[in-house]
Parts: sequence; C-alpha cells; structure tokens
Amino acid sequence: MMRYTLDVTSGLAMGHDLNSLESTGEGLHRRLPMLFPTFARRINSPFPYWRRFKLPQDHRLDATVDEIKALVKEHFAHARTRVAAGEPPANFLEALVKPLENESGITDEEVFGNVLTMLLAGEDTTSSTAAWALHFLAEHPDIAAKVRAEADEVLGDQRVPGDPATIGRLRYAEAVVHEVLRLQPVAPMAGLQNLRDMTVALSDGHELFLPANTPIVVLMSYGARRDTTRFPDADVFRPERWLDGRLPAEALPFAPFGSGPRFCPGRNLALIEAAMVTSVLGRHFDLAGDRTAGMVRERMSFSAYPVNLRLHVQARRAAWNSANPGSAVR
Ligand code: HEM
Repeated sequence: MMRYTLDVTSGLAMGHDLNSLESTGEGLHRRLPMLFPTFARRINSPFPYWRRFKLPQDHRLDATVDEIKALVKEHFAHARTRVAAGEPPANFLEALVKPLENESGITDEEVFGNVLTMLLAGEDTTSSTAAWALHFLAEHPDIAAKVRAEADEVLGDQRVPGDPATIGRLRYAEAVVHEVLRLQPVAPMAGLQNLRDMTVALSDGHELFLPANTPIVVLMSYGARRDTTRFPDADVFRPERWLDGRLPAEALPFAPFGSGPRFCPGRNLALIEAAMVTSVLGRHFDLAGDRTAGMVRERMSFSAYPVNLRLHVQARRAAWNSANPGSAVR
C-alpha cells in the first residue's frame, strides 16, 4: 500500500513516476517508511538531541532527505524550463516554481520543503487507511459483497476506473473509507499552541481560559467510536451511515483531516486513492484475515498504523472471466 501511495504522491508532487510498485530492489519506497519512527522520536523527545549528536536513525534520515533533495533538484530544472516556456503547471513542483519566476520571495529551500512535506504527508496516512479498509472487508464478507456489486455496476468491463468521475460514482467504497477513518483514524490527534490568550466555549456551557503558548492536544475524532447520538451502534463497522449525505463527512468534533486554515490539502486525493483500492481489490480478490502473526492492532508513531495486518488474497479470475469473456485474464 505504501508503494502505491508513494507512486501516486511522487507523480503529483513532481510528475515523477517512481514505479516502486514494480521495483524489486532498494529505493525510496524502502527508506521512506523508516523515517516515520525517527520523526515520532523527535516529536516526543524532551530536547532536540539531534542538534548535538546523531543516532544511526538520524544519519539514515539525513541520507534519505539528501536522496529526495537530489531527486527534486533533478526535476526542478525541468520544471523551470517548462514554466519559463509558458507551459501551464502540470504538477505541484511546477505550481511552486511559477511564483518563483515572479520573484515572489519563495526560496529553493522552501520549494524543496513543500515537496518533501507533500511526499511524506501523502504516503503513510493514505496507505494505512487503505490497508484498514481491506482488513474490514476481510472481516465483513457482506460489506465486501456490496463493494463488489457496486464495482460491477459502475465499472462494468473496465478492470480499473478510467477517470476521477468514475471513481466519484463508487459511493459505497467511499462510505467504507469514511467508516474506516471513523474507527481507525490515522491522524487521531494534533499538537497545537495558541499564539495569544484565548477563551474557548465548552459544550457544557462553561468557558476555558488558555494563556498564550499553552500546549494543546486536539483529539481529532474524539467520541467517534462511542458517540451513539451521532453514530448509533458506534462500535459497529457500518458504511451505510455515510451514504446519501445522511452524515456530513466532516462533522466536528469528527475531523479526520483536521480543520481551519491548515486543513489537509490532500483530503480529496486520499479519498480517491483509498476508495479506488477498496473497490478494485475488493472486486478482483477474495480477502481473508491471517492471524498467524497475532491480533491486528493499532500503533501510534508519526501517525497511527495497523500492525499484524496480514491477508490471504485469492484472485477471482474465474468469476471475472465468465462475466467478461472479451477481457479475460489469466
Ligand atoms: C487518509 C489520508 C489522510 C489523512 C487522514 C490526513 C490527515 C491530515 C491531518 C489531520 C492534517 C493536519 C490538519 C490540521 O492541522 O488541521 C493533515 C495535513 C496535511 N496533509 Fe493530510 N491526510 C491524509 C492524506 C494526505 C495526502 C494524500 C496528502 C498529499 C498528497 C496530504 C497532505 C497534507 C499536507 C501537505 C498537510 C499539511 C497542511 C498544512 O500544514 O497546511 N495528506 N493531513
């Protein structure tokens, strides 16, 4: 899943197809996931130790950042040439290069920082969400059957959706993803600090005074697993609750993609990616949980991700071939 989301994100960020899905050797797809535990360690460290000494994982982080820098640099020159020739920006890097031409004050270093952020923020969040979606399909064959029926109806003899509009018609698969984000949010909390003194209104009618610079931990989806007012049978995995606008996808305090000016800019892409995986893999494969490694659990690092999530995956070739003799697969 990480290879899939990394390929999508590097295409979006720089117009570069890493094709890590088909790669057999070393590459960014192997090194990037190792960075997240280092970020988590740094976030939770009582002091910025890496400014005084470096552990092996800090050296690995530096090497990977240098590798990404070299990759971005390679595409930077190309982006500049295209934008200077008056071509419309075709990816995130080119969109950032455009204001550089107008002397906007954005530096090369800031462009690099933004491309790196995009690569990192778009990878494990979406891959963990898609992985959880497949886990829930394996756990709920009735829901998997509905995903399959929708894919048969919307996609017909297309093996994968041909355009974003078609993915937009996979409403049940998208509802599965919203339900995954309710029960297994990959970004369950955010750390904030108020710049000014402020008073916030509490739901019980009281007010809470927060002096400037108070460290605040916002629980992004607090209560979503227990709130039976908004989510009857709150502990049950039931995608139907999101269908036909019955629930607004982001109803505070349920905010899996954050809120306000720093709202996740990758939300729509993430929903498209995760819904597509859910629909296409749910349609073409029978999925069954494999508990040999132990119970499937959630672990918090830079984001929350599943551990011990193994699946037996069996291709449904016979069913596909008899329904689609014109595009049979072996
Ligand atoms: C299921 C997948 C995803 C989830 C749950 C998620 C969640 C979040 C959350 C909670 C934030 C913080 C928002 C806030 O502070 O209010 C965020 C920020 C961000 N996300 Fe995502 N995200 C996902 C996928 C993506 C993707 C696919 C991309 C890009 C390709 C992306 C790019 C970003 C960026 C660049 C930020 C920082 C925005 C800023 O600080 O202004 N995210 N995301």
